[in-house]
Amino acid sequence: MEPRSAVRVRVPAKVNLFLSVRGLREDGYHELVTVLQTVDLHDELTCTLHGSPWARAHPAARQLMDLVLSHDGGPEVPGDGSNLVLRAATALLRRLGIAVGDRDAPAVARPCTRLHLSKNIPVAAGMAGGSADAAAALVGLDRLWEVDLGRDALAELATGLGADVPFCLHGGTALATGTGTDTVRVLARGEFSWVVCEAPGDGLSTPEVFAAHDALVAGTAGRAERPSAEPDLVLQALRTGDVELLAEGVHNDLQAAAVQLRPDLADGLGAVRRAGAVAALVSGSGPTLLGLARDPEHAQAVATALDGRFRRVRVVRSAAGGPRIAQVPAGSSAQAPR
Ligand code: C5P
Repeated sequence: MEPRSAVRVRVPAKVNLFLSVRGLREDGYHELVTVLQTVDLHDELTCTLHGSPWARAHPAARQLMDLVLSHDGGPEVPGDGSNLVLRAATALLRRLGIAVGDRDAPAVARPCTRLHLSKNIPVAAGMAGGSADAAAALVGLDRLWEVDLGRDALAELATGLGADVPFCLHGGTALATGTGTDTVRVLARGEFSWVVCEAPGDGLSTPEVFAAHDALVAGTAGRAERPSAEPDLVLQALRTGDVELLAEGVHNDLQAAAVQLRPDLADGLGAVRRAGAVAALVSGSGPTLLGLARDPEHAQAVATALDGRFRRVRVVRSAAGGPRIAQVPAGSSAQAPR
C-alpha cells in the first residue's frame, strides 16, 4: 500500500557543558543546574502514513492508529513499546484521543504509521540519543498527522517523556533547571570543536549513575560542606565564544560516579588530555568521553592521536541547532529512508 506522505526528521545529540546535581527530590529525580548544547551528530527518523485513502482520511478510522517501528541501531536499541520513539508517538496519539492498534497485527482497514529510526548517536552513552529520538517523533508526527499542536503542548508531552526531551525539542544552547526540563535559551557565539570518544563495552544506566552519585555524596557527608559549582564561567565563555574560558568552566558532577562504575574511564580521560584536548570530561551520565579542542583542525589532531584508543572517535562541533523536518516525496518507504 502506497503511503500518502512521509516526513524525515534529523535530530542532534547534546553535550552537557556544565552539570551540577543539587539534591534528591521526593519523586526520585534530582534537582539540576545544567548547560546543554547540541552537537552535529544526528539520528534520523522517517515517519510514513500508510493505509487505504479512506482509512487515512476518514475521521472514524483515525480513532485507531497502528504504529510500527523499525531501526538500524542493533540489539542495544529496543524495538518494543519501551523505545522512546513509540512512547512519544503513543503520548501524542493519546493527547489527540486516538487509540493505538495492535502493533503486531497492523490492519489494512485502519491507518498505520511506520517509523524508521536511523541511529548515529551512541546508545546509552550520555548524549541524549533516546531523548533526541523522542523529540524527533513529537515534531515529525505533529507534522505528518497535520496536528499543529503548538510548542507549549509539545513541550508538555516532552516533559512527560524524559528530563532531556524538552531541550531536544528546540536544541541549540540552553540553561536547564528543575529536573532539567525547565529550559531557557542562552546567548552563544561561535562554534566549539569536540572529540567524541565512545568507550568500549556496555553503556551506563542513568539511574545507576545518579544512585552512585548519591552514595558518593552521602559518603562525604559530615566532612566540610562542598559548595555547589556554578555555571558562570561557562555562560561567559558561551557569550564570548572563548574556548579557553570554556575549558576552565566545563564541569560534570556525575563524572566521579561514572568513573566509579567504569574505572577504565579514568584512563580514558587521561588519554584524551594527553592527546592535547584543552579539557576532558564525561558526557552527561557517560560513558562517552568528550575532548574540547581549540578549533576543528586541533580536534582532528586530537582524534588522530587517539586513533585505536576507543571504540570510536569522532570530531563534532557545537552548537548544532535543533530538529530539522523535511517532507519526503510520496511513495518513499519508511524502511528505506534514503
Ligand atoms: O528523565 P529520564 O527518563 O531521561 O531520566 C532517566 C533517569 O535518570 C531517571 O529515572 C532518574 O533515575 C535519573 N534522573 C534523575 N534526575 C534528573 C534526571 C534524571 O535522577 N534530573
